[in-house]
Amino acid sequence: MNFSLTEEQKMVRDAARDFAQTELKAGVIERDTHQTHPTEFVQKMGEMGFMGMMTDEKYGGAGLDTLSYVLVMEELSKVDNSCSVIVSAHNSLAIWGIEKYGTEEQKQKYLPSLASGETIGAFCLSEPEAGSDATSQRTTAEDKGDFYLLNGTKNWITNGKKAGIYVVIAQTYPEKKHKGINAFIVEAAWQGVSTGVKEDKLGIRSSDTSSVMFQDVKVPKENRIGADGFGFKFAMQTLDGGRIGIAAQALGIAAGAYELALAYSHERKTFGKPINEHQAIAFKLADMAMKIEAARLMVYRAAWLKDEGLDYAQAAAMAKLYASEVAMETTVEAVQIHGGYGFVKEYHVERLMRDAKITQIYEGTSEIQRVVISRNVIKGQTYLDL
Ligand code: CAA
Repeated sequence: MNFSLTEEQKMVRDAARDFAQTELKAGVIERDTHQTHPTEFVQKMGEMGFMGMMTDEKYGGAGLDTLSYVLVMEELSKVDNSCSVIVSAHNSLAIWGIEKYGTEEQKQKYLPSLASGETIGAFCLSEPEAGSDATSQRTTAEDKGDFYLLNGTKNWITNGKKAGIYVVIAQTYPEKKHKGINAFIVEAAWQGVSTGVKEDKLGIRSSDTSSVMFQDVKVPKENRIGADGFGFKFAMQTLDGGRIGIAAQALGIAAGAYELALAYSHERKTFGKPINEHQAIAFKLADMAMKIEAARLMVYRAAWLKDEGLDYAQAAAMAKLYASEVAMETTVEAVQIHGGYGFVKEYHVERLMRDAKITQIYEGTSEIQRVVISRNVIKGQTYLDL
């Protein structure tokens, strides 16, 4: 068992840390307040290789491992979770499935512009009446011979209005239930594709979240991903990897809030000494540090399992569930340690607390992670089985 990072992983992490702390931090409060999309930083992240992190170099990606991706997500998420969710949805939910299950033509056509960040990707699974209950897809993709006719509405889509490419999950054979679902690559510019208003959110406010509507969109047959009827398993597998990205985001939120609280606890004095010399604060810091470390080990291990080609679904669900709970708890405590200052925007921890909440909801709520974990546990799968 080796817990060291490689020199390359350290370099990638340091580059992300430097970018987040020096470039993203300066305007993050302003962007959050005004819900301004971080377009220029998405372009910069593309130049840095963050928009095609795990994509093969032959398609213009950085060809890095999942652990490097996690390290980048962690550093970005200490500062700006609108940027990190853009990176996560783009890499894990849009690119991954095309690269894993797409045809060579699909990969050559779509991956280079996605991997450079020139085109942003989005994943369209959730619907007004199909969130946790993902098999209940109402969006239909009727087989019309040469093409599929796509109709329906998708909700809460990260990168909804900014995406050039959507990976869309839709029902082709309703009588077959989840076995009749397909996945498609749909271009935003095609006739019949439109988006709703940008959602006004509690957290990750500058990221772009909206509905995406499809009205009689003609999707060429060659844009279906994988075999006929593979769409639901495709979506589930995509989310298994996506959950590692969100777990890393939650870890970064927790670590970012902890670092701010620790620094503040040295500066702030009450009753004649720094507040971290009071046991009430010192013990909070101890609990935060311990839980973050446990979450970090779970997230890194899930990434390692994926890189080793081993089954990572259970580890990803556990890492996402635990890290998101640690993010919520840690950010609440970080605000508490800051006292009144924690309640105002300037000190950053209130924003991290608001951002933490979504990590317990998207890419499978905490309750859905417990469904996934408990089913595996009951079947006899233990976390340590390799
Ligand atoms: N990998 C491969 N196949 C899988 C799988 C996985 N991880 N999970 C399930 N399947 C397969 C099952 O084996 C089953 O196949 P068979 O019928 O051939 O046996 C099939 O899929 C159906 O599975 P279930 O019977 O388990 O289905 P279910 O209705 O009980 O639901 C669920 C399963 C786990 C609850 C699933 O619906 C789920 O994960 N829901 C949450 C969806 C979610 O995470 N949504 C997030 C939206 S995306 C988002 O937030 C994006 C964003 O923009 C940030």
